[in-house]
Amino acid sequence: DSASVSHITLANNADLMIVAPATADVISRLAQGRADDLLTTTFLATSAPKIVVPAMHPGMWLNAATQANVETLRQRGVTVIEPVVGRLTGADSGIGRFPETRDIIEKVLQVTNTSSELLGRKLLVTAGGTVEAIDPVRYIGNRSSGRQGLAVAYEAIRSGAQVTVVAGSTDFFELPGARVVSVESAAEMYQVVEHEFPKHDAVIMSAAVADVRPQILNDAKIKKEFLNEISLTANPDILMMVGKKKRVNQVVVGFAAETESNFLELGKEKMFRKGADFLYVNNVAQGAVFGQSTTSGALLSHQGVQERFSDVDKHLVARSIISNIARKLEGVHG
Ligand code: CTP
Repeated sequence: DSASVSHITLANNADLMIVAPATADVISRLAQGRADDLLTTTFLATSAPKIVVPAMHPGMWLNAATQANVETLRQRGVTVIEPVVGRLTGADSGIGRFPETRDIIEKVLQVTNTSSELLGRKLLVTAGGTVEAIDPVRYIGNRSSGRQGLAVAYEAIRSGAQVTVVAGSTDFFELPGARVVSVESAAEMYQVVEHEFPKHDAVIMSAAVADVRPQILNDAKIKKEFLNEISLTANPDILMMVGKKKRVNQVVVGFAAETESNFLELGKEKMFRKGADFLYVNNVAQGAVFGQSTTSGALLSHQGVQERFSDVDKHLVARSIISNIARKLEGVHG
């Protein structure tokens, strides 16, 4: 079964490979391109960035053979972290000690081009549209693809956060590292967010929550002759709820879509009315943003316009939102 050759599967799935601790023997075998066990075959097969973290006795580390092997690996683009000076196994001390975990993590973040802005923080992100059932087969929905929310979740993970995504209807997505809770209706999303919010440092309400739902949910499929009219009732506002419940050490981000030229004013009013700390207002005067990868608008805070965006990738907006949340959370604990 070629699909499950373990070193190839591992090699293809890895975003990064770290060999830690790496002995003098392993370093020598990696430098030679040996392929006689799972570690060396995977190392040889993967195209992911590689980090080697040596740990050994000073004599072995300083030996010309080891130094030449390290140089070979570096020339091939492998990041080799210098061992540190300190206490070794037994009574010995000198160069060769395994570095502190935080220094290894720092190197991982550098190599993978990620940041640690949100390390240890928990973010709750809603994405996609809600589906409001009329009967077992029909529903009221919207065209939201979930792209903006998923971009926020992706960037939050890259910044070190633990991320929970509450997903309504979205395009297909994969978000390794995120916990995903799937919901259908606004009422379900409300319940999940209400339950999860106290456990998170910030919530980003990028979902397109339906403002209304059918007043009566029919258990049986409605015959078409009775489908001329559907009475609607308002859905609860999730953003407003979190805006009211938020603790001083929590951050709330809302979204809005406005078509008027005074969209900044309308966004500001919405931010204060719903109790959000930040609000990204989409300027949709030129047409819908749903399903597109780019957006125009502005990120607002209580201090005013933080940043304006004109036809940019949604990930750029996501990164700006992440940085602003990180700055607001700075110095706030628990
Ligand atoms: N929102 C929500 N619960 C709702 C409706 C909206 O949490 N029942 C959130 C959305 O996730 C978004 C913001 O509120 O963060 C959008 O507010 P909304 O008043 O719906 O603004 P627009 O989408 O701009 O639409 P409109 O002004 O036409 O209502």
